[in-house]
Amino acid sequence: LIVLGPLIQCVGGPRDRRLEIVPDACIHVGNDGVIESIEAGHHTHTDSEQQQQHTVVTVQWPQFIVPGFVDLHLHAPQLPQAGTRMHVPLETWLRETTIPREARFSDLEWAQKVWQKLVRKTLSNGTSTAVYFASKHAQSALLLAEECLQRGQRAFVGKVCMDNKDMCLCQATAQKDSSVSLSEPCVCTESTQESVEETRHFIQEMASLNNTQTINNNDDPLVQAVITPRFVPSCSPELLTKLGQLTQEYKIHVQSHAWESDWQVLYGEETRNARDLDIFLSHNLVSPKGTVLAHAVHANDSEITRLAETGVGVAHCPLSNAFFANGIMPARLMLDAGVAVGLGTDIGGAWSASILDSCRQAITSSRILRDGVGKLRGGKPCEHVAEINHIDAFWMATVGGALALGRKGGIQVGAKFDALVIDVENESNIDYFHELDTPEDLFQKFVALGDDRNIRQVFVDGKCVLAK
Ligand code: GUN
Ligand code: FE
Repeated sequence: LIVLGPLIQCVGGPRDRRLEIVPDACIHVGNDGVIESIEAGHHTHTDSEQQQQHTVVTVQWPQFIVPGFVDLHLHAPQLPQAGTRMHVPLETWLRETTIPREARFSDLEWAQKVWQKLVRKTLSNGTSTAVYFASKHAQSALLLAEECLQRGQRAFVGKVCMDNKDMCLCQATAQKDSSVSLSEPCVCTESTQESVEETRHFIQEMASLNNTQTINNNDDPLVQAVITPRFVPSCSPELLTKLGQLTQEYKIHVQSHAWESDWQVLYGEETRNARDLDIFLSHNLVSPKGTVLAHAVHANDSEITRLAETGVGVAHCPLSNAFFANGIMPARLMLDAGVAVGLGTDIGGAWSASILDSCRQAITSSRILRDGVGKLRGGKPCEHVAEINHIDAFWMATVGGALALGRKGGIQVGAKFDALVIDVENESNIDYFHELDTPEDLFQKFVALGDDRNIRQVFVDGKCVLAK
């Protein structure tokens, strides 16, 4: 594959993220989906003989190429509830609505219906890589991975582990909510043994699923299993220990929630006498492949330093945090400390499946963090430099998410070609004035105003998986 056209992306590491514009890029992609070369000035480099041997995609300004988005954290079974019931505290939301509703995903027909909608929707919004929490059922998680494989979305999928029965009120809830079926005993959680065995089963099934892939992709299959302890309050120390053993045995990614709300942090301090990162580290739940902790709103300064040192990534979910987290995550502070911070939509702790919405929320919430609630109201602005701009946000949405997964991010030699073709001239929120707008302006407009209507093509692993 050869892709010709204007390339706009954010490059660099967490500390030196910056905008890069190549007006006339020529991107060579190998059959394995890996980018072999990127050159500027394609007219001089690509002769017609070369073009005849390859599929050539030509993108013409004001259309442009950007890297695909990484949604570093979302809950697949929560799509049906997205946009509802977000007005209660996290603990209530989880115990009364969210965890009981996930029990329904033992029904594989229901699961299939939701997975189809979700994968189509996230791909259409430019999510070329998604890091999913599925449900506690290995079979439904496997079905999600198959759906991603079939549609061509790069996916990291976790079968959710949770053995603490106190984390759900399914019996009490069933009486109030007809979508939750009453049953005995609790079907929302699982025993420790069941959780570990189902996880092992899931990992093995995922390996054989990938063996059916035709492309030679053994080191980096399109869909990969992730060890997924839901969060500290859901998991007994014994479960965490066993999941840590699986992590070291299979050397695959780990994901969980950490430092999300006052209640959640306090739970660890009171019941385990420890805080989230220490708990995960002490159970060997930090993977050499990559570890993603969602939220991290209440990480303290020394924990932020340790995130950077241990290479543990953070999924910043700014919209969900506005509802459930009792605070704003200091994303700028973390980036400047060298932490691999990516963005998550956190469906259905938030209502949008669009990473562009996460970008915008990251930007606006950072301004509130910077300025406080105003002197008259007694709110103090944040002491450190808190501001996230459109470049920082887009960096997190692409490169940062990849780094958190231990991958090469953005469009660069050696990375997989996961990319989007952006179109600003169809009916959408973006008004492009060629007399006025520079490429920088148009990029900023895309971050501020873009949506699925502006995403014309989605490439994953060097293949066009969506065109509209
Ligand atoms: N903590 C544990 N589970 C969840 C979840 O599903 N959503 C959010 N936002 N936080 C959690
Ligand atoms: Fe979450």
